[in-house]
Amino acid sequence: MKFFLDTANLDKITYFTSLGLVNGVTTNPSLVAKEGKEFLPTIKEILKIVDGPVSVEVIGSNSIEMIKEAKEFSKLAKNVVVKIPFTKEGVKATQILSKENVKVNMTLVFSASQALIAAKSGASYVSPFVGRLDDISQEGMELVEQIKTIFDNYNFKTEIIVASIRSPKHVVEAAMLGADIATIPPDVLELMFNHPLTDVGIKKFMKDWGNAFST
Ligand code: E4P
Repeated sequence: MKFFLDTANLDKITYFTSLGLVNGVTTNPSLVAKEGKEFLPTIKEILKIVDGPVSVEVIGSNSIEMIKEAKEFSKLAKNVVVKIPFTKEGVKATQILSKENVKVNMTLVFSASQALIAAKSGASYVSPFVGRLDDISQEGMELVEQIKTIFDNYNFKTEIIVASIRSPKHVVEAAMLGADIATIPPDVLELMFNHPLTDVGIKKFMKDWGNAFST
């Protein structure tokens, strides 16, 4: 399973890249706005740090505007993936862009039927938002399972990015279902390292070692 970092925070991206854990990055308008910096310079900085796919989201609402933005983003670097929301206009734009070899990540996917349309339209990635489904008392992971079955049935090459992740449990469940990618907020990735028994174990090893061998 590939790990993407779901953030536009340069310090976090640099930190987790140095740990060898960043296979790519996803951003969205909210994540970039949260950093309080200019949009394009922030994206350019991310692209300097990350070799893997970096999703950059369009804000246009019709296919013409989306395609225009997509082409601008694509000029920035080879690893740019254009993130397009799942609307009819977004699907139209995805069909055109994918024929021109622009990689598209169809975002805001909340149903298997949307994922199927995205894959048929040539999207390189689909992003089902599991946390936001859980928030409204639906089972986000059931959606991932459905999409995985459909893509396997028809051998779609579209990769599943499990998005809107809220906890390490989400990442583990996504991995158990065989999702290609989890896009993980930095705080959640940090939590994935922790286990109290690891801390207790280290303390005990150090204490026993000290008791036996220190002078
Ligand atoms: C995905 O690419 C999105 O950036 C993200 O996962 C949205 O998550 P949220 O529901 O926490 O905003």
